[in-house]
Amino acid sequence: MVQFLLLLLGMISPLYATAANRPTNIFILAGQSNMAGRGGVRHHVWDGIIPPECKQDPFIFRLNAKLTWEPAKEPLHKDIDLNETTGIGPGMAFANTVLNNDSGFGTIGLVPCAVGGTSIREWEHGTLLYNQLVNRTNVARKGGGRIRAILWYQGESDSITRQDATSYEKNLKRFFTNLRVDLRLPVVPIIQVALPSISYRYDDIVRQTQGGMKLQNLLYVDANGLELQDDQMHLTTQSQVRLGKRLADAFLQFQSS
Ligand SMILES: *[C@@H]1O[C@H](CO)[C@@H](O)[C@H](O)[C@H]1NC(C)=O
Ligand SMILES: *[C@@H]1O[C@H](CO)[C@@H](O)[C@H](O)[C@H]1NC(C)=O
Ligand SMILES: *[C@@H]1O[C@H](CO)[C@@H](O)[C@H](O)[C@H]1NC(C)=O
Repeated sequence: MVQFLLLLLGMISPLYATAANRPTNIFILAGQSNMAGRGGVRHHVWDGIIPPECKQDPFIFRLNAKLTWEPAKEPLHKDIDLNETTGIGPGMAFANTVLNNDSGFGTIGLVPCAVGGTSIREWEHGTLLYNQLVNRTNVARKGGGRIRAILWYQGESDSITRQDATSYEKNLKRFFTNLRVDLRLPVVPIIQVALPSISYRYDDIVRQTQGGMKLQNLLYVDANGLELQDDQMHLTTQSQVRLGKRLADAFLQFQSS
């Protein structure tokens, strides 16, 4: 009898979560422009093309700037990265890939927090972006959902001068450590993206930091080799789809290990 009730509860609860717009699996998206998404943006205009991998799904939600859940759709960061035109980022392709892998995964809540052009020091403990990240994450988990991972793609702005590039390791480690403390999630998985090696003078130093950093449950995927737009800075829509899949693969492999 008890088993039957539990089974029934198990069947109803995902439906309830969907109806109540309280996603059970929460992912934080943070960093700078390539996380916020510039795929399909040219001369400050987004082409509006949404590949099938980034399509809407009744199981994927987004925490908007007004701190309420709504059905997620591209561009995910449009009301967060306000001062720039946003396009396709990795978030929707990530979420769709995770759902395709496991139909019983439940609902996904994406929490966009990325802002273009930001350096690691602008994410330091106590800054506006840091507080916003912590606050949005805390709002997101209020409905009982679990923070499954933080996806982080940043570092272009720290690749311009040698000084920023060489202090990146220290600054990044401190940021991750503080964030886990303030969220009271000491081992929450963080999946970071190693920058493609592009036109920035010191991106090799930053890439090395990203690929080599050792922290518990810190993973990375490499964006090197992904096609860039004409600006030689931003991933194309198709590259963002590939990156989203890579992030999902990293998460799924980590989860099943
Ligand atoms: C947008 O620009 C204004 C004015 O420069 C600035 O105060 C604000 O922080 C910017 N917002 C974002 C999200 O970048
Ligand atoms: C889901 O991901 C796991 C871990 O990467 C993998 O072993 C498994 O084959 C995937 N399943 C499907 C249906 O894609
Ligand atoms: C974050 O939340 C704290 C406490 O509720 C509040 O004082 C602060 O203004 C918030 N900061 C941002 C950036 O939303």
